[in-house]
Amino acid sequence: MEMQERIYLTPTPVRIWHWLNALGIVTLCVTGAQIRFPEYINIFGTYKAAIRLHHTAGIVVALSFALWLFYYGVIAKMLTKLYVPTTQDLKSGVIRQALYYFFYYFTGTKSNPHEESPTNKFNPMQKGAYVVIMMVLVPLVIITGAILMNLEPLREVLVLFGGVRVVAGIHFLLACALGAFLPTHFYLATLGHTPFAHFKPMWTGWEDHHSDH
Ligand code: HEM
Repeated sequence: MEMQERIYLTPTPVRIWHWLNALGIVTLCVTGAQIRFPEYINIFGTYKAAIRLHHTAGIVVALSFALWLFYYGVIAKMLTKLYVPTTQDLKSGVIRQALYYFFYYFTGTKSNPHEESPTNKFNPMQKGAYVVIMMVLVPLVIITGAILMNLEPLREVLVLFGGVRVVAGIHFLLACALGAFLPTHFYLATLGHTPFAHFKPMWTGWEDHHSDH
């Protein structure tokens, strides 16, 4: 018989961080495209308007990242447990999960090998992606962005990194990697038992948990 229970999966600070961060990153990508290619893209009127909005979205992303880090690192103390893949995840978990997403999901012959719980929310593929995004790409994009926003006071730091062109180049490449993550993230998020099953806990906190008994 199929049983359905509700579990509280995504606490409020995580939901606030996630949607502020999503709005901020999408705004950064669109304004960043205009700043990088002003001869082809003009969505926000002037170049100055695009820069002002880019800076504001950057500050929103940096503050919401601080909220995410503080909540998971200091309050919940779950950062490593939830986000860092174990040796087992890397040895076999990633392959098993990839086989499910790329093959069994379509044939319907096997169910998802990962079962979500508040202390083990992510499957090995999610852990691998999220750890790189949240502990490498986002912090580096914030640091390089903060340097570019404060060229005068941070002139010595800038020289250390190879000058404004190098820092701007690194910032752009990191942003491209973050931009590439978005469609994959969106697609994988729709692969629950219904297309919006994973969106619901990201909005309400609660997940309808299905299990066969
Ligand atoms: C329009 C943009 C976005 C949408 C629609 C979206 C959607 C979702 C959904 C449905 C989930 C829950 C399912 C899951 O755990 O995979 C989720 C979780 C997550 N997303 Fe996004 N996302 C967006 C943007 C982003 C961005 C820009 C980042 C990071 C730079 C991000 C990072 C994460 C992380 C780390 C989680 C797990 C959060 C946790 O429970 O600790 N998302 N997202």
